[in-house]
Amino acid sequence: PETGCLSIIVLGASGDLAKKKTFPALYNLYRQGFLQSNEVHIFGYARTELSDDELRDRIRGYLPQGKEVKDDVLDFLQLIKYVSGSYDAPEGFQALDKAISEHEVSTNSAEESSRRLFYLALPPSVYPQVCKMIKSNCTNKTELGGWTRIVVEKPFGRDLASAEELSSQIGELFEEPQIFRIDHYLGKELVQNLLVLRFANRLFFPLWNRDNIANVQIVFREDFGTEGRGGYFDQYGIIRDIIQNHLLQVLCLVAMEKPVSLTPEHIRDEKVKVLQSVVPIKDEEVVLGQYEGYKDDPTVPNCSNTPTFATVILRIHNERWEGVPFILKAGKALSSRKADIRVQFKDVPGDIFKCQKQGRNEFVIRLQPLEAMYMKLTVKQPGLEMSTVQSELDLSYRERYHKTVIPEAYERLILDTIKGDQQHFVRRDELKAAWEIFTPLLHRIDEGEFKSLPYKPGSRGPAEADQLLERAGYVQTHGYIWIPPTL
Ligand code: BG6
Repeated sequence: PETGCLSIIVLGASGDLAKKKTFPALYNLYRQGFLQSNEVHIFGYARTELSDDELRDRIRGYLPQGKEVKDDVLDFLQLIKYVSGSYDAPEGFQALDKAISEHEVSTNSAEESSRRLFYLALPPSVYPQVCKMIKSNCTNKTELGGWTRIVVEKPFGRDLASAEELSSQIGELFEEPQIFRIDHYLGKELVQNLLVLRFANRLFFPLWNRDNIANVQIVFREDFGTEGRGGYFDQYGIIRDIIQNHLLQVLCLVAMEKPVSLTPEHIRDEKVKVLQSVVPIKDEEVVLGQYEGYKDDPTVPNCSNTPTFATVILRIHNERWEGVPFILKAGKALSSRKADIRVQFKDVPGDIFKCQKQGRNEFVIRLQPLEAMYMKLTVKQPGLEMSTVQSELDLSYRERYHKTVIPEAYERLILDTIKGDQQHFVRRDELKAAWEIFTPLLHRIDEGEFKSLPYKPGSRGPAEADQLLERAGYVQTHGYIWIPPTL
């Protein structure tokens, strides 16, 4: 492993993302010993004038509060320094570079390297200028060796053209191995498990294709609206916020072919191929919705047509998946909060139990909350009678791995950026292919040609979405519900 000073610079340090996600993830890494206080320095950078202690106070509220961790929290906060400056002028970045360099000199012995990780917890509109400033003022001192890396968050652009422009602006300044495009869904335990599940088990591989699978659903639901971030959300909508990135990444891992090896590039090569095999989306395979009350938010224009719900069917034109609909569904202000992957198998040919069955086989991966995988099976109803019932083989993580703490997505991904492992990050060509799929539809929505249907907050979304599901061949199971085990 590399040694020497590691500087983690969080730009946009006083913003929401930094406070809620970045600093808490860094704290967790620190507490588990991944960030050693004799090597690591953390810098916050933003426009607001603040003292180190004022920034620490702002962060403290988002870190664990218990007595038993009090010392850890204090030690962690002591690692953080604050530098203020603008995002488009060199002075602030020169001051930042000076602060980083001072620490490197005090920490390193002569032959050790300088590692600089810039985390852009900022709106993408400032990425190009900030990258330029970092490049010309703050890159690592090459005579020491080491590296400079930047971490960027979505939204990477609004459509294909703007994303490509952003990519080429950043690409002129940094090499692809230096750029880490975070999609935090790739840091979730059960998303990371997909690769293992699919390719380490003989059980799945003969079944995982169009001969056996009727349809695949990848579903994200939230039981709250866009409260507090309506202004941001209205410019993007649910497709750009959730589907084009998070759900599409999951789709890639469900649908891709076996990579040549486990190296990040081999895996990402396969993901790109899946995206490139997706055929243009058909109008009749899209349902958009907007929850009633969305426009009451003062930051949302009264005439907004922005979808807060969407069901979109993607079709993959290849040997494995021809004819199998991949149904991506996401919505805000629905009846529950959960994310899952539901693989529904075809009917049993010549089924002698058909008239008494409750439903088809399904393999469900519950990404959150309460991580689980379960396989829905028809079994004999226990007892004297020869009747059947739907049941399940259940791998619930809380029960099976009850002593294991499942790390937060951001924690894992930040650790990967320090190690330089890009497997769980989105490559430039992958991003481009993802935008190619959704851009025509997004343009039509932006131009008001595709209307969002109203739905009641706390409902399942527009009824038309369920009708679309049925048309796509999804068969609902009646009278069965999976109940997560209680401990
Ligand atoms: C973010 C979206 O990327 O993901 C939010 O911008 C959404 O709108 C969030 O709430 C969901 O993340 P998670 O990890 O809670 O499922």
